Amino acid sequence: MISATHTFPRGFKWGSATAAHQVEGHAQNSDWAQWETLPGKIKENGSAAVACDWWGGRWREDFDRAAADGQTTHRLSVDWSRIEPRPAVWDDEALDHYRQMVSGLRERGIEPMVTLHHFTNPLWLVEKGGWENPAVVSHFERFARKVVSVLGDHVDWWCTINEMNVYAYNSYAEGIWPPGKKDIRLCFTAIRHMLMAHAAAYRAIHELQPHARVGVAPNILLFDPARPDFALDARVASFQARSFYEAIPQALHTGKLLFPVGGWRERLPGVAGTMDFFGVNYYGRRLTAFDLNHPGTLFGRTFHSAEAEVDNMGLNELYPEGLFRVIKWAAGFGKPIAITENGWGDNDEGRRTRAMLGHVRQLWRAVNFNLPVQAYFYWSLVDNFEWERGWTQRFGLYELDLETQARTPRAAAKLYAEICKSNTLTAEMAARYAPEVVPAMFPG
Ligand code: FCB
Repeated sequence: MISATHTFPRGFKWGSATAAHQVEGHAQNSDWAQWETLPGKIKENGSAAVACDWWGGRWREDFDRAAADGQTTHRLSVDWSRIEPRPAVWDDEALDHYRQMVSGLRERGIEPMVTLHHFTNPLWLVEKGGWENPAVVSHFERFARKVVSVLGDHVDWWCTINEMNVYAYNSYAEGIWPPGKKDIRLCFTAIRHMLMAHAAAYRAIHELQPHARVGVAPNILLFDPARPDFALDARVASFQARSFYEAIPQALHTGKLLFPVGGWRERLPGVAGTMDFFGVNYYGRRLTAFDLNHPGTLFGRTFHSAEAEVDNMGLNELYPEGLFRVIKWAAGFGKPIAITENGWGDNDEGRRTRAMLGHVRQLWRAVNFNLPVQAYFYWSLVDNFEWERGWTQRFGLYELDLETQARTPRAAAKLYAEICKSNTLTAEMAARYAPEVVPAMFPG
């Protein structure tokens, strides 16, 4: 067998990502806590419930695992509904809880990246119209100021809003997330307010912490033309890409929001130049075929090709090359890049390790083409509550037994620990964890 070592640059950051509502448990005051009680919203009538019990203190044991596995960074989020249970009323205990968590990370040699908004909202904000109401911009800015003033001793790496595209689409176009609306205009409104709220928070954070690094983390789902030679497929695929994700970094770069749909363009004052790093959440791609029966997705029908290797839920295609393509595209915005999420949710453990090997290999390629990618956050450290999919989809390096709260390392946890500790990916690791990939990955 060929012997090969892919080495990453010294100081490359390896870590994992989580989000408050998905791991903390015991939430009461947010739209998601309420939504989960409605019948039919979550697969198998699931709810976050106790989740991974981080609010009960089990973050300690999970951070111990991350540290023991050689992780040097962790992306976590704070739950706005805990910190500000009523407008401008701050819960000092909740703030202190988060302070302990981020200082707990530092004590373990792990650098925190904190996300301020990861899908959930306080109920009082929802009553005021949530992300439909322009007032959310100043509410979010006030919240950002508070969090930074309390956590700023330990944190200077901030992600303002996670996947504003997925949030707006699922909450306001598909209606499968709270507030469950189906109105494409509200989807645009929410995106516009999220961009403005991000920009307001960006400035507030820099005022308090001039050296802060502030970014966003859109979901980058590639859309490739199903029939590459058919111009309409290519056109619709590029429409979908521009509308779903390209519009976001473009707006943060230029201050102009351009949706190809209906020629929607708008100048957003103060938004240009508010991105210190580009956070990329990447899970795969879809093929797009022009189809007049699909007006809701811009006349594109999206699907997986018959040859695609997909997870057991049929949601994501295992397409590691896409990670390289996405990094290359993201580099065009001229900022450092962090892979803020990438992972594989599957029952098939073989596919999980193969996915990790494939993605890390593409990451290494990107680094070696001098693309400015500096960090990689695996989604996720431990199985957690996957939104409308509840507990039916498992992404953890560690398997969670919901009844007993026991954690068991999966093969992917062991492989990832080897990668993190050695700062390399080797042919020998591939041979031990997924021998079937060796001939293609390391021909020799
Ligand atoms: C992303 C979300 C994250 C998690 C992963 C699997 O869209 O940001 O919370 O659910 O997908």
